Parts: sequence; C-alpha cells; structure tokens
Amino acid sequence: MSNAPHYNIDVGAFWADPYPDLARMRKEAPIAFVPQLGSTVLTRRDDIYSQEKRIDVFSSHQPAGLMNRLMGHNMMRKDGEAHMSERAQMFPAVSPRVVKETWRARFQAHADRILEELAPQGAADLVKAFALPLSAECLKDITGLTNMRYQDMDAWSQAMIDGIANYTGDKEVEARCHAATAGIDAAIDDMIPVVSKRPNASILSVLLGAGQPMESIRANVKLAISGGQNEPRDAISGSVWALLTHPGQLALVRDGRAKWIDVFEEYARWIAPIGMSPRRVAKPWRYGGVDFAPEDRVFLMFGSANRDEACFSDPDRFDITRGTSKSIAFGAGPHYCAGAFASRAMVADVALPSLFARCKGLRLDPSEPAKIGGWAFRGLLNLGVKWDA
Ligand code: HEM
Repeated sequence: MSNAPHYNIDVGAFWADPYPDLARMRKEAPIAFVPQLGSTVLTRRDDIYSQEKRIDVFSSHQPAGLMNRLMGHNMMRKDGEAHMSERAQMFPAVSPRVVKETWRARFQAHADRILEELAPQGAADLVKAFALPLSAECLKDITGLTNMRYQDMDAWSQAMIDGIANYTGDKEVEARCHAATAGIDAAIDDMIPVVSKRPNASILSVLLGAGQPMESIRANVKLAISGGQNEPRDAISGSVWALLTHPGQLALVRDGRAKWIDVFEEYARWIAPIGMSPRRVAKPWRYGGVDFAPEDRVFLMFGSANRDEACFSDPDRFDITRGTSKSIAFGAGPHYCAGAFASRAMVADVALPSLFARCKGLRLDPSEPAKIGGWAFRGLLNLGVKWDA
C-alpha cells in the first residue's frame, strides 16, 4: 500500500457533494489514501496530467478487476500497443469527420423527433423526457445497435456501471449486470449480418471490418455503452440546469456573446460527468513525496482536477467565458475519451440549441427541485422544467 497520508470521508456526504473534501485534499493532502474507497487518490490537475501518461507505472491493465470479469477485456483496460491498435480500429466510427458528415445529422433528427412530441406538453422532467432518450438514440447509431430500445440502452449501461462498482459483491447487482451484457450480446448477434451486408460508420461495423477478434468487439461495444450513455445524458441535463440557475450566462449565449460549445466545455469542467478513472500501480514509484507499491489502486480524480485553484480562478463558479483548455473532463492521457467529438456535436451543436429554440420560456419548475449526486459519475437525477407550450 502507498504511504500517502490518510484522508477519511463520509461516503454518503461524498456522494452528495464531493467538492468540499476534494478542495481540502488538494490543499492538505493532494495525494491521499482514502480508506473508505480503498484507494490512493490524485486530486491536483497537474499531477494527474503528468502521471496519467506514465502508463509504465499507472497501468490500465487490471486483470483482476470487475470490468474485465463482467464486460470482457476492452481497450480501456489495456496499455501501450494492445490499447492503441484497438483504439485506432474504433477511430473511423468516432472521428471528427464522421461526426460532422454522418452523425450530426442523425443526432439532429433524433432531437427534432423527441422535441416534436415533447414541446406541446409544457412541462417535463428533462432528464427522462429529453436528455436520456436523445443520448441513447445517438448511442444506438454510434454503436450500430439500432435494434435496441432506448430504454434498454440506458438501463443496460447503468447495470454495467453498477456491476463494475459492485465491490461488496451484491448478488442482485451482479445478476442485473449479467442480464445487461447478455442483452447486448444478443443485440450484437442480430446486427452482425445486417452490418456485414451493408457496412456503415458504426463501431460494430468498423470493428468487424478491421477484423478485430469477436471477443474484443463485444467488449469494446460494451465499453462504448457503459461509457457513452450517461455522460452525454448528464452533460445535456446539467448544462440546461446550469444555464437556468445562472440566467446571466444564458443571456450571454442568447446575445451571441458566447457559444453553446462554451456552455458544454464549462459545464464538463465545473461538474465532470466522469469524476474518476482508476489505475493499477505496475511498479514501485515515488512521486509527490509518496511511495507507491505495485498493485496499489489509484484513482485519478478528474472532477477535482477541474476545480484546481492552481489552474482555474474561482473554480467553483460556473462561468462560460473562462478558458477551459486546462479542463481534463475527457481525460489527459492515451485513454482520452474516444467519444469526445461525438459528445460535443450531440450536446453543443444539437441538444442545447434545439431545446432552447423549441421550448420558449424554458424555466425551472419550483415544485420539482433538481437533485444531483455522485462522484465517480456525477449528474442530475431529475430536472423539472416548464415552458410556454
Ligand atoms: C460528455 C460526454 C463524455 C465524457 C465527459 C466522457 C469522459 C470520458 C473519460 C473521462 C474517459 C476516460 C479517460 C481516461 O481515463 O483518461 C473516457 C473514455 C472513453 N469514452 Fe468517453 N465520455 C463522454 C462520452 C462518450 C461517448 C458518447 C462515447 C461513445 C463512443 C464514449 C466512449 C469512450 C471510450 C470508448 C473511452 C475509452 C477510450 C480509450 O480507452 O482509449 N465517451 N470518456
């Protein structure tokens, strides 16, 4: 175990709002062992930025980890050439060009269809009625699993996320995860003949075309589902909530003094949808006055990095005019989010402008206060809003 100073948390309070503890850690113990998480955590932005690239020390290869066991061995749990070759094979499905030429129009069609049905209603929980179905419909296209229901995309994504964080071995959580991966495997089996006959730009199709082994294709499609549903969902609903609770910022976009992409980048900095990425220590290492031992578990705390006062002035403030180039909401190393371009298009080009254009007078519903939670994944649980139907 590392000899980092210990920092104790109240797990419930940390889930409700991790930022006060993270700020104290950055100040008093920037590399700390948190007994309740069983991990050594890195909380400062520049430490994460430099150490994440040391894949010889902070390895993604975690053979005993729950992700490998439950979802198969995907590229996010590989290092070096093994990782880079699978990542390169996925690239044609998520590149800036394919996002611009193929996905953006599809995303827009999904948003238009969802809003067409929603707009006359005048009130809704935007997480359930807009952010969730839009994110899921877009992910069906990107993965190639257009035969799934959007509800299953969301539920199965969540079931896998719960499964890989199930450190206490809860049998029900594990069973739900197995059901989700079986459902995804069945959806893959059904789509293989379809995309083999008519190849398209989806992850399933490009990985089949690249000749990636079937076991890896299944694992990487599951990775895209576990990592590609709740983050755009949470970024869409969270950005809307941030604007409605900061009307001055919304006015900047409406007046043309800021752009929707500024909203998305600043929201992802302010409340990182993925707050943490785990690593396994591969060899003895000394950094920041701490000795790391092989097999230590390390958490890179992206959510903390993005509030680091050494890199962002007044970091707790939501300010769409600030520079976000130091944000590491999508990671800071070789595992930098493969879906970053698609997410920017989905949230900034499609979801936010379409929603605010279609639902005039969008405002919070005071009878349904928004709730937010999580630290490894953080997002709104509900977002009650009204508009002029
Ligand atoms: C707001 C939206 C999103 C955020 C904030 C986000 C964030 C992240 C983060 C923090 C990582 C880990 C980076 C690291 O450990 O260094 C990651 C990896 C990944 N994400 Fe995303 N993500 C988003 C959307 C998506 C979408 C829509 C997809 C669907 C294709 C996706 C697919 C992936 C994949 C495949 C990886 C693993 C990359 C690798 O191992 O090389 N993400 N994402």
